[in-house]
Amino acid sequence: MNYELSLRLQTCLNALTPLQTVADVGTDHAYLPCVGILNGKLKKAIAADIGKGPLEAAKTTIQRYGLTEQIETRLGPGLTVLHPSEVEGVVIAGMGGKLIVSILEENLLLTRSFERLVLQPNIDANVLRDWLSQHQFNIIDEKIVLDEGKFYEIIVAVPVEHSMNYNELDIEFGPVLRLDQTNEIFHAKWSKEFMKNQSIIEQLPTDHPRVESLKQRQALLKEVL
Ligand SMILES: C[S@@+](CC[C@H](N)C(=O)[O-])C[C@H]1O[C@@H](n2cnc3c(N)ncnc32)[C@H](O)[C@@H]1O
Repeated sequence: MNYELSLRLQTCLNALTPLQTVADVGTDHAYLPCVGILNGKLKKAIAADIGKGPLEAAKTTIQRYGLTEQIETRLGPGLTVLHPSEVEGVVIAGMGGKLIVSILEENLLLTRSFERLVLQPNIDANVLRDWLSQHQFNIIDEKIVLDEGKFYEIIVAVPVEHSMNYNELDIEFGPVLRLDQTNEIFHAKWSKEFMKNQSIIEQLPTDHPRVESLKQRQALLKEVL
């Protein structure tokens, strides 16, 4: 059996440490909780999904690995399938940042009861960071990976008793990521956007309405490059 995850999911799994009991919301094939248990990183997991098809796929993986004792499956939206104190934390990966926000917001009390949240938005990471900032979550760690040609940001958040007051650079690029000057993947992601914007600016007439906003974005990008 192959116990390997994609780099993206393996990075999410690693970010759950030191938690041993977690819910994987939007689990699809339940690869993350299965490998987490098989590799001894997790003791117990709940694999949840809103879709019947994905949950069936999760059940198949769990049975194939003989993990029905350690991983429970739950069908339903977001955190509604969880009870307080069942698990120490949650991982929500492979969705848009806005959908992750709507899942977290739906039951803020439960969201704030987790010791740690590992969140991997495919897009709109800034929207998610902004929400975390405004709802008293500290971003204690962040990772960025290049997996099969795509960049992914992984955000680790914990509830705190005060607002974080992240600034615009923190929200856009990550309060942890943007401070690591040696991170080549981070540099590659934002250099790519910078060069794309530059070529658009050069092709547009100087009085085009998009030029000003693109120039503002370039100025922001320059601050982290
Ligand atoms: C692209 S898959 C990601 C699977 C896995 N987490 C990963 O990162 O590879 C997204 C999954 O989230 C599920 N999903 C979407 N909205 C959801 C919600 N509100 N609550 C629970 N699951 C949801 C979908 O059914 C789908 O299986």
